[in-house]
Amino acid sequence: MKRFEDKIVIVTGAARGIGRTVAELMLEQGAKHVYSLDVAVGDGMKNFTQKKVDISNRDSVEQVIKEIVDESKHIDVLVNNAGVTRDGLVEKISEENWDFVIDINLKGTFNVTQAVVPFMKETGKGAIVNLASIVGEYGNIGQTNYAATKAGVIGMSYTWAKEFTRKGENIRTNVVAPGYVNTEMVQSVPEKIIDRLKEQNPMKRLAEPIEIANAIAFLASDEASFVNGHVLSVNGGMRI
Ligand SMILES: NC(=O)c1ccc[n+]([C@@H]2O[C@H](COP(=O)([O-])OP(=O)(O)OC[C@H]3O[C@@H](n4cnc5c(N)ncnc54)[C@H](O)[C@@H]3O)[C@@H](O)[C@H]2O)c1
Repeated sequence: MKRFEDKIVIVTGAARGIGRTVAELMLEQGAKHVYSLDVAVGDGMKNFTQKKVDISNRDSVEQVIKEIVDESKHIDVLVNNAGVTRDGLVEKISEENWDFVIDINLKGTFNVTQAVVPFMKETGKGAIVNLASIVGEYGNIGQTNYAATKAGVIGMSYTWAKEFTRKGENIRTNVVAPGYVNTEMVQSVPEKIIDRLKEQNPMKRLAEPIEIANAIAFLASDEASFVNGHVLSVNGGMRI
């Protein structure tokens, strides 16, 4: 399938996990070039450039996006995937852990989008997919900071779905809200809790990264040409 033929794609946090799987999938499906914006660097791939940048740093993000446009001339797809957790009950969340999660998940998504959208507006088209979470939809004990960012991402996405199309541009914004996925983010959770999460899920398992990447790729592709401002829950039917 060549549904990303000639497309220039930016995926934040594509050194590993879901972001990496999205980059691999879109390259397989014909993307001309995929750029990762990540503090980490993963294995190299053909047509894949990794820009080492902290998305919470607005100036660095702006600089990197300019470099990408100098090289590639346009940007077709943006996947705001990079995200972090610093869990704790409300009484135990330090200011540092509150700021860390907000600065990356919420402000980072804003920073990258703010830097990319002017270039999408130049061509009048583009697709943005933002990563939220089941936790942003339904809440979760011990994840006040994370839930706030993921609910915030959903609110920003509804806003962008209206704002980036208001002059007739074809710039769609959608959200994928995964349940629990088998990546490093979840591998740090104690096994006892993982077993409980699997048990609570109608499908009795975690998601694999490719199951999330397939949903992201659909929303980013022209097959979803009239899907805008949608939150696609990919959670096996789980409600927490
Ligand atoms: N794994 C899950 O169960 C799950 C569930 C729901 C939502 N999500 C969301 O999916 C997205 C991807 O999660 P994952 O499971 O692949 O996580 P992961 O921890 O495996 O990968 C996250 C990537 O983001 C990068 N990153 C971290 N801080 C960054 C920063 N400041 N600037 C740039 N890059 C940074 C990391 O280096 C890493 O490559 C996240 O937004 C996460 O919140 C994950």
